Amino acid sequence: MDTSKLMFRDGLMKGERILVTGGGTGLGREMAEGFLKLGAEVHICGRRGGVCEETAGELMELHGGKVVPHGCDIRVAEAIHDMNNEIWAKDGPLTGLVNNAAGNFISRTEDLSIRGFDAISNIVFRGSFYMTQDIGKRWIEQKLKGNVISILTTWVWNGGPFVVPSAMSKAAVNTMTQSLAVEWGRYGLRFNAIAPGPFPTKGAWARLSPDAEGAKRMDSGAANPMGRVGEMHELVNLAVFLMAPGAEYVNGQTIAIDGAMYNASGGNFAMLTQWGDEQWAAARSAIEASNAEDKAKRTV
Ligand code: HXC
Ligand code: NAP
Repeated sequence: MDTSKLMFRDGLMKGERILVTGGGTGLGREMAEGFLKLGAEVHICGRRGGVCEETAGELMELHGGKVVPHGCDIRVAEAIHDMNNEIWAKDGPLTGLVNNAAGNFISRTEDLSIRGFDAISNIVFRGSFYMTQDIGKRWIEQKLKGNVISILTTWVWNGGPFVVPSAMSKAAVNTMTQSLAVEWGRYGLRFNAIAPGPFPTKGAWARLSPDAEGAKRMDSGAANPMGRVGEMHELVNLAVFLMAPGAEYVNGQTIAIDGAMYNASGGNFAMLTQWGDEQWAAARSAIEASNAEDKAKRTV
């Protein structure tokens, strides 16, 4: 990311300690970089512990400060609890959480196995709750303020054909955001969400546009009213606005950042109704190859 495009003053996030789940790659890494650049201590977690370590090293090399990597599978509530115990004991309480980790792949819903549904919903639906509850309970017990952002999709408003487990799970996390903003507002905890449109990342593109033509179409931004995909600093500026001190009265909101794509065309994968068996088979084998490549690097 070009950090000169950050809208905020240096030191704005000094004193903040923020956990970004899935912060080793993609959008999570970009948000971690933004928070770090503005003075926060950042923790990142993922199943590929080595990837998180590399990212932490690279970001500290670029900006100084402190990024702490954690190997943690957010599908496992005990693993979350252990990681948070370690953070609290070694560094102190978190002040913020970004529920960014997710899993997804395009598939016809009739082709999904139960394990395929669980692979996505256990990360997004269950993992986001486990993490939010574990940290929220600590904040409530210790009478600390806290701030949570969840990274959703615009599918929370209009559904996600061919990504149904993701759309269902993200919609549930949207509901969690609205519910906890009200229930836990009295403790000084707030909950907002971001619904990004297309921001090219290796992880998302490999699973959502595994065909060269789809990737080209996504990259071109042709379907977007602004004729382009999102730029990372744009997303990071929104995340900082919601996470940094100064706008605490914003609570219970989900904000789209998609160049108005959702308003124009729904922003989902409705166009894949045109695919036949051959295209779905090719997409699946390409996605499974990406899954296997990533899986080989998992340390937890
Ligand atoms: C159908 C598939 C499949 C596919 C996997 N499965 N790929 N089914 N079509 N293309 C099935 C497998 O066959 C298996 O079921 C089950 O899913 C579990 O597969 P595993 O490989 O064992 O899963 P797991 O190791 O748990 O990995 C989870 C994962 C993987 C979600 C499948 O892709 C992952 O780790 N993803 C993390 C990163 C990611 O997805 N990033 C993109 C986020 S983008 P059977 O029954 O055969 O055993 C995003 C929204 C972007 O969220 C929006 C853009 C606009
Ligand atoms: P990505 O790079 O694949 O990021 C997903 C991250 O989640 C990875 O770092 C992955 O790390 C982590 N993760 C997955 N399962 C996990 C688990 N069980 N435990 C811990 N960490 C886990 O893709 P991305 O595009 O940056 O996506 C980031 C977020 O943005 C997601 O919530 C996605 O839905 C959302 N989003 C992205 C776009 C886009 O255009 N890119 C658009 C809308 C929404 P490990 O594999 O190492 O665990």
